[in-house]
Amino acid sequence: MKRRTTVLWVGALALVGAGIAHAQLTPSGDPATDPATPSSDAGVPALDAGDTAGDREAAPSVTSTPAEPAASDDRPAPRAPVRAAPSPYRVTPELVRLGRRAFADRCTECHGTAGRGDGPDARFLSPPPRDLTRGVFAIRSTLSGQLPTDWDIYRTLRRGMPGTGMPAWSGVPERELWALVAFIKTLSPRFRDESAGEPIIVPPAPPATEASIVRGRRAYQRMGCTVCHGIDGRGRGPGARTLVDDQGRRAYPFDFTRGWMMKGGSSPEDVYRTFHTGIDGTPMPSYHDVIDAAESWDLVHYTRSLFVQ
Ligand code: HEC
Ligand code: HEC
Repeated sequence: MKRRTTVLWVGALALVGAGIAHAQLTPSGDPATDPATPSSDAGVPALDAGDTAGDREAAPSVTSTPAEPAASDDRPAPRAPVRAAPSPYRVTPELVRLGRRAFADRCTECHGTAGRGDGPDARFLSPPPRDLTRGVFAIRSTLSGQLPTDWDIYRTLRRGMPGTGMPAWSGVPERELWALVAFIKTLSPRFRDESAGEPIIVPPAPPATEASIVRGRRAYQRMGCTVCHGIDGRGRGPGARTLVDDQGRRAYPFDFTRGWMMKGGSSPEDVYRTFHTGIDGTPMPSYHDVIDAAESWDLVHYTRSLFVQ
């Protein structure tokens, strides 16, 4: 359902923008508006890391963590490409309780006691803290409209969301982070009713050659990124003024000159993943169905060439 919404966004904006963009995006519009899509989405093999981990004991590397908390907690936040992994901790009622306590200590000032995004500090923040009861996640390795994997949530907690009030919790002990992941999943009924999607595959990045950047610039225009992000990449395209998020709040296309502030991370692999999966809850669409790997890397290299160092 979300997926379809996203594609409608693309359709609508492509119409606003260049006819070329529309032609490019139409192929994705067909399957996604096909009534069969929701069932085929549901048929995607689930990679619910939490469930798999539920059958296992903590991995040996992590059982040693309590003995040396400093060593593991001081590690820098993982940087893509990092191999996604299931939670090393069994999801037990005790783990969820730990998560609940950690949430009360660290998160409620912004996200509110019930996770609705209405904590006392919420009114100072733009974008506002997420209402976690809705189960809509911006940063995922899964396709638009699908639930994130446990790893996706863990990664967001560790790295935070640059450019927003959402801090990086890289100093929090591993067990507590995974406990928070388990607790967050109790806040939205979506996690009871659905499984996480299958993570997309990000192939190894080819070098960012001048030729690739030039091809990327053409792809950026042809695919209609300009409609929102603008020809200069500063987020002021012709479609930008009318954009709203899924709660009716004004939405702002990313300014690529502020490249290091990407919510989903700014490494080549991060950028690749973000425009393949889209940013749920915002007008940023998913391009997974309309672009191949080679062209994707050209686009990544081009958008990263706009970063002001
Ligand atoms: C200082 C305020 C603040 C605190 C404290 C905070 N958050 Fe957030 N959080 C935010 C904001 C703001 C966003 C929304 C960012 C956006 O929409 O781009 C967010 C978004 C999120 C998301 C959504 C991620 C996604 O992919 O959409 C999760 C999950 C989350 N926070 C969990 C937590 C947890 C768990 C804690 C405590 C360990 C926490 N937050 C503490 C402000 C905060
Ligand atoms: C319909 C308008 C629209 C179009 C078309 C669009 N974007 Fe976006 N894009 C957005 C919005 C809005 C955001 C900011 C979302 C948010 O609130 O985080 C964004 C954010 C991004 C980000 C930053 C993600 C982050 O982690 O913060 C990247 C990268 C991106 N877009 C790439 C692209 C590329 C590449 C294209 C073309 C293939 C494209 N976008 C087309 C609206 C659009």
